[in-house]
Amino acid sequence: MKWTRKHLLTIEELSAEEITMVLDTAASFKEVSTRTVKKAPALRGKTVVSLFMEPSTRTRVSFELAAKRLSADTLSITAQASSITKGETLKDTARNIEAMNTDFVILRHSTAGAPKFLAERLNASILNAGDGAHEHPTQALLDVFTIREKLGRVAGLNVTILGDILFSRVARSNIWALTKLGANVTLCGPTTLVPRVFEQMGVKVCYNLDEALKDADVINLLRIQHERQRKSLFPSIREYASLFGLNQERFKLTKPEVVIMHPGPINRGVEIASEIADCPRSVILEQVTNGLAVRMAALFLLNGVQGGGAVPAVEAAA
Ligand code: CP
Repeated sequence: MKWTRKHLLTIEELSAEEITMVLDTAASFKEVSTRTVKKAPALRGKTVVSLFMEPSTRTRVSFELAAKRLSADTLSITAQASSITKGETLKDTARNIEAMNTDFVILRHSTAGAPKFLAERLNASILNAGDGAHEHPTQALLDVFTIREKLGRVAGLNVTILGDILFSRVARSNIWALTKLGANVTLCGPTTLVPRVFEQMGVKVCYNLDEALKDADVINLLRIQHERQRKSLFPSIREYASLFGLNQERFKLTKPEVVIMHPGPINRGVEIASEIADCPRSVILEQVTNGLAVRMAALFLLNGVQGGGAVPAVEAAA
């Protein structure tokens, strides 16, 4: 199969074969990061601009490092340090960036659909680094990569996503990726944050936490997305932690081989007890490591469509 997409905007639009192609390519690139010289030449001469209009630690650093490891020239712009604060529109900002012959724009934005908006107006390849509560495609790709690496497969696994599903782009992208790859997905959390409408995406909605935990092969915990909630949808953080936090007592109910995931940033003592975040079953930092390989793979595949040459990942990593 040949990669044909110029942009990476959503998981919804990807086929299972395309998702698997990113994962297989990422597996080749993971090895590059273990070498003494952690560089591959695939994006030499290309320019990658990260445009982050919302805060980020993991995604921004990971994309920038991925581009650098592929030998691209990289620039990073944040909302506070850009002329957007002087009234410039996103479209004008992006067109000015492109006027400097930029090949890739990585965009994080609070508005759902902002990456698609740019993809329809610029010649550069656009990578969605999270748009509102819509999608966070590379997070889902690194999550399924991590599951496949830890458990050897995704199909047939029981994956419980616990927390604020309603406002989570990570949840939406994960649901698409996991269901396309054949996992059984259960969503759990307060009724106000896990509406039954999600069942239309082919997942189970369960409000009984013990039931949602006991058969899970993977538990993916999500924080409360305060920045996107316009009103309080649960009484207090303390009550949320008590009713839905993964604490030691609830952890005892899970399968002994369960894999604990979290996209970060974690709120210790709220959605996850500190001891569980740091326990051997937690792969939270491995997710971050895998994010680098997945973002290298995404840039590499899009570059092939841009005329960067369809070099097999193993050769590009040589
Ligand atoms: N998981 C994630 O998107 O983290 P950041 O907000 O730090 O990028």
